[in-house]
Amino acid sequence: MILVTGGAGFIGSNFVLDWLAGGGEPVVNVDKLTYAGNLANLASLAGDARHRFVQADIGDQAAMEAILAEHRPRALVHFAAESHVDRSIHGPGEFVQTNIVGTFRLLEAARGHWQALPDAEKETFRFLHVSTDEVYGSLSDTDPAFSETTPYAPNSPYSASKAASDHLVRAYHHTYGLPTITTNCSNNYGPYQFPEKLVPLMIANALEGRPLPVYGDGRQVRDWLYVGDHCEAIRMVLAKGRTGEVYNIGGNAEMRNLEVVHALCDTLQALRPREGGYRGLVTYVADRPGHDRRYAIDARKVRAGLGWTPRETFESGIGRTVRWYLDNAAWVAQVRSGEYRHWIDKNYGKRT
Ligand code: NAD
Ligand code: DAU
Repeated sequence: MILVTGGAGFIGSNFVLDWLAGGGEPVVNVDKLTYAGNLANLASLAGDARHRFVQADIGDQAAMEAILAEHRPRALVHFAAESHVDRSIHGPGEFVQTNIVGTFRLLEAARGHWQALPDAEKETFRFLHVSTDEVYGSLSDTDPAFSETTPYAPNSPYSASKAASDHLVRAYHHTYGLPTITTNCSNNYGPYQFPEKLVPLMIANALEGRPLPVYGDGRQVRDWLYVGDHCEAIRMVLAKGRTGEVYNIGGNAEMRNLEVVHALCDTLQALRPREGGYRGLVTYVADRPGHDRRYAIDARKVRAGLGWTPRETFESGIGRTVRWYLDNAAWVAQVRSGEYRHWIDKNYGKRT
């Protein structure tokens, strides 16, 4: 079996669903169930013996050691993290705790587990660390895209905490020989994304006729990747990637935020027409402090070395995504109750 951390979150749950749909081995799914973790994402696996869910904190080393000893996974895919930049600005402590200390505890548990394995299993064990392009910092419009050798220059508490976790993973390979691989990916979108992130937030607001809050001038650039393509890349890296290596993963789809919001408005207009359209809901609000201007990914290594390329274009992926949110209004309503309301007040209440 394999062990997945953070498998009740956005990318982790997509990964678990795709992995099992593709006939992968059983999964033990370890998640603390923070505000971002949602077992409803995994509802289709109810009663499926191939999926075992364990509620635990990656920072609880004893719990992680016990889970590893009980299940003896052949690989660990580490998604668990605090993942939202705006939340890291309001409260960096949790990011340090989970992303840095939590990853350290998990590495310690994995190291003990791996060192005790028989040689043949030791050889094939993998610790795959899922990270972000944000560790490389911000690009100007003319800079070349981030490659695996771009120096780290994280700018937010979130990206700094992920950078620290990347360094720890690297050190555990270099010092102890733990067979780690790190992936650094660009912005994902798709089903089950918590509606605090740009794409699902804009869809949810638009459907209620609420303002679409674009930070600053809306000209910041991100590279967008459909989540299913990210999950496929991770499967390929796990199967064929070289230990100790880093792989950048991107969608080859650089867009300005305003272009993304307009694309969402136009897709919604085609599928659920609104009198006057949705674009008029766009509202410029105060910028994110320290807002990175541009991210771009050079994905040549994963393409040439492992043969991965994204299947979805931005247009096809956004179409699928908007349709999913229209078809899953109950999921959206459930995640937007409770804590979500406090977050919206906190993040948007004082933005002018
Ligand atoms: P998410 O916030 O949707 O999910 C994170 C999951 O981790 C949740 O289920 C949460 O309950 C769990 N978790 C948090 N703290 C935990 C802890 N201490 N112990 C156990 N579980 C804990 O995040 P996501 O968008 O799915 O991102 C997953 C990973 O991918 C993260 O490491 C993130 O940095 C990375 N990443 C995300 C993107 C993106 O665009 N979303 C892009 C590149 C990389
Ligand atoms: O690049 C990979 C990263 O992408 C991941 O590591 C993070 O986990 C993930 O959250 C994402 O980070 P971003 O900060 O790029 O994503 P977010 O959806 O929060 O914002 C995307 C862009 O849209 C960013 O430039 C800020 C802007 N934005 C966001 C929100 C929520 C707005 O203009 N308005 C908003 O209300």
